[in-house]
Amino acid sequence: MSKIPVIIDCDPGCDDTLALMLANQIDMFDVLAVTTVAGNTTIDYTFRNGRNVMDYIGSEVPVYKGAEKPLLRELVTAAHIHGEDGMGGVVLPDSQKPAETEAAWDAIHRLALEHKGELVLIAVGPMTNVAIALSKYADMKDLIKHIVIMGGAAIGGNTTPCAEFNIFEDPEAAEMMFTSGIPVYMCGLDVTMESYLTPDEVAQLAALDSKEAKLFHGVVQKSLAFYTELLHRPGVAQHDPCAVIFAAYPELFKGEWCGLHVETKGKITAGKTVTDLYSDKQFDEKNAFVVTEVDREAFVKKVFELMSKY
Ligand code: RIB
Ligand code: CA
Repeated sequence: MSKIPVIIDCDPGCDDTLALMLANQIDMFDVLAVTTVAGNTTIDYTFRNGRNVMDYIGSEVPVYKGAEKPLLRELVTAAHIHGEDGMGGVVLPDSQKPAETEAAWDAIHRLALEHKGELVLIAVGPMTNVAIALSKYADMKDLIKHIVIMGGAAIGGNTTPCAEFNIFEDPEAAEMMFTSGIPVYMCGLDVTMESYLTPDEVAQLAALDSKEAKLFHGVVQKSLAFYTELLHRPGVAQHDPCAVIFAAYPELFKGEWCGLHVETKGKITAGKTVTDLYSDKQFDEKNAFVVTEVDREAFVKKVFELMSKY
């Protein structure tokens, strides 16, 4: 079976780090590039972290630098979860590879052209790079097969009561993506909060005999404490890994197509992903597949299977 050409756009970021490690072991993926965006931390750190993680796992996949701030808004980072530099206190050797100089959005377009209509974009940070690519290249919408995102929530929010971080960071970019005409599969908080690892599962994963397992253990500690001790959740949500696992193994999940728009004007509601899943009023287009359920056992088993390949 031919491989799926994939680009991972991310803001590493602790859960982004596990997402990259998992994607690197998914045989059906041909990971063409990693593109980085400001979000969890500044672009200088997310670019550095993307390069260092890919080096650390022995990958030759090129890493590109993207937007340093949202389209219209000031950058809001998430140091309380990811630490100031985005790696939760873990220090990796700095990559000695020459840094790619092509901008993320230009790399996305170039690779989409090379893989006309087949490229799958997995975006697990703010959608700023995606929006810039869409606004710079009119043919982008015809070149991307579909986009799988970690972001949004049909119900609730994490950064505000109604907005999830990636969408909250750049709501205008997210609305551009959702209305681009490219099908979007949204792994929002509805499913990512259920795609968690318990403390025991974290410990078992860390006990795998690889440097990658040790890296996972290092970067997960801050968020593990946040979810279990502060939020009293049964485990640490694996937001970005959920999107990567969905992109490869959708059969482990459930969801449905709906109409979706992003609130960009509200003072309190900015960043809300408004869906017509539960309303009489229906939007005109079914532009988003909102993932609502996961077989958590199967998800965890897949994470272990992939991490055991290191
Ligand atoms: O809300 C969770 C999302 O925001 C994840 O992508 C995490 O990495 C942060 O970017
Ligand atoms: Ca992320």
